[in-house]
Amino acid sequence: MNTLLLSHIGMLATPTGRTAKAGRAQGEILTLSDAWVYAKDGRITAVGTGSVPSVLKHADCTLDCAGKLITPGLVDAHTHLVFGGWRQNELAMKLHDVPYLDILAQGGGILSTVKATRSASEDALAEKAACALDEMLRFGTTTCEAKSGYGLDLDTELKQLRVIRRLNQTHPMDLAATFMGAHALPPEYREKRADYLRFLCEQVIPAVADEKLAEFCDVFCETGVFTAGEAEQILQAAKEHGLRAKIHADEIDPIGGSQLAGQIGAISCEHLIVCPEAGIESLAKGGTVACLLPATSFYLNTTYAPARRMIQSGVPVALASDFNPGSCPCLNLQLVMNIACLKYRMTPEEVLTGVTLNGAAAIARADRVGSVELGKQADLVIWDAPDLNYLCYRLGSDLAGTVIKNGQIVKGEADGKNH
Ligand code: NIG
Ligand code: FE
Repeated sequence: MNTLLLSHIGMLATPTGRTAKAGRAQGEILTLSDAWVYAKDGRITAVGTGSVPSVLKHADCTLDCAGKLITPGLVDAHTHLVFGGWRQNELAMKLHDVPYLDILAQGGGILSTVKATRSASEDALAEKAACALDEMLRFGTTTCEAKSGYGLDLDTELKQLRVIRRLNQTHPMDLAATFMGAHALPPEYREKRADYLRFLCEQVIPAVADEKLAEFCDVFCETGVFTAGEAEQILQAAKEHGLRAKIHADEIDPIGGSQLAGQIGAISCEHLIVCPEAGIESLAKGGTVACLLPATSFYLNTTYAPARRMIQSGVPVALASDFNPGSCPCLNLQLVMNIACLKYRMTPEEVLTGVTLNGAAAIARADRVGSVELGKQADLVIWDAPDLNYLCYRLGSDLAGTVIKNGQIVKGEADGKNH
C-alpha cells in the first residue's frame, strides 16, 4: 500500500463528474479552501476541508501545499506526438505569408515530416517522443492523446502507433492512441485518391484494429486534403473495426467536417476555427466535444474558434495543444489556457474544465481522470499560484511546481515530511 496526503491546500479547484460539461455547467467548478486530498495506491480515496482526520495523518508521503492552488493533472486531448525531424525551415516561409496549405501543396509541410518519420527507426521516434512527454509532464499534463498520420503507409503508421503503445507502457504519462492515416494524401497516391482511401479502409484500418493499436480514428477534413464525403467513408470503416471517430474540421475552410462530426456522433471534433452555425448546432445535437486548439490559431496567425457561441449552444469545449512540428510546435497547456482566456473570452473556470474533465471526455477517459474526486486517479498539480485566476493571468512562466501522476511525484520535491 502506498499513501499520499496533500495538506494545507489554499484552493482546490476541480470540475466534478464523469462526463463532459456543456453550457453553463462548463464554468461551474468546485472550489474548496483550506483543503486536503488523500490517495491510496494511485487513487483518490478522501477529500476534505479543515483538519485532516487523524487516521489519515500518517501517509507514506505528506506534501504541505502551503496555501497553494491544486487542480487535477491536465489532459491534452490532441497531439501529434510521434514524428521525425522538425520544420524550423518553414518559419521563413511563414514570415513571407506563404499559406499553410500552399506549403503542403508544394510537398512540404506534413509531407516533409512524413519523409522524416518514414526514415526514422522506431527506437529513435520513441526516444524523441519520450522527451516531449517529459516536458509535458513538467508543464502539468498527466494524460494525453497521440495521433499517427506522419507515415501514410502501412509500416510507418503501425510504427508510430507502436511507439505510442510502448510509451504508454513505459512512461508515467497515460496515452490514448488515434490512427490518422487520413492526414494527407501521400505522394505515391497523388493521382490515385480512390486507391488510397481503399488502401486505408481495407488494409491499414484492419491492421491497426488487429493489433489493437488505436482507440480512435481521425481525418483531416480540409480543402485539398480530404472532403467530408471521404472522411465519412474512412470513419465508417474505422467504426466497423471498433475505432471511434474524430475529425479535424474547419481549421482553414469550412467544408462540412463539423456538420459530419455531429451527424455521425464523433467523440470529438478538432480545431473548428471557422466553424459555421450549422456545425455548432450539429455538434450540440451529436453530443460531440469541440476540441479547440488556441495555440494553433496563434501560431498560424489566424482567427479564433467561436468558443463562446459553442458554450452558449451547449457544446462541451475541450482545450488542447495540437503539439506538432508544423502548425503548433508547443506542448505547454498553461499557454493554451492563457490564450483561451484572452482570445476565446472563456472564464478561468471554463478553461479549467476544458483542460481537465472535457479533455478527458474527448478521449473517453472522464471516468478515470479529469477531476479530483473519490475513485479517480491521483493525478494532481500543485501550482505556484494562490488561486485559479492567477494561473490563467500569469503569462510565460512555468507555474507547475509539483506534478503527481498516479499518486507518485514526477516533478518537484516532497517538501513536507516524509515517513
Ligand atoms: O492539427 N491540420 C492538420 N494537422 C496538424 C498539423 C500537422 C502538421 O503541420 O504537421 C494540425 O494542425
Ligand atoms: Fe491536429
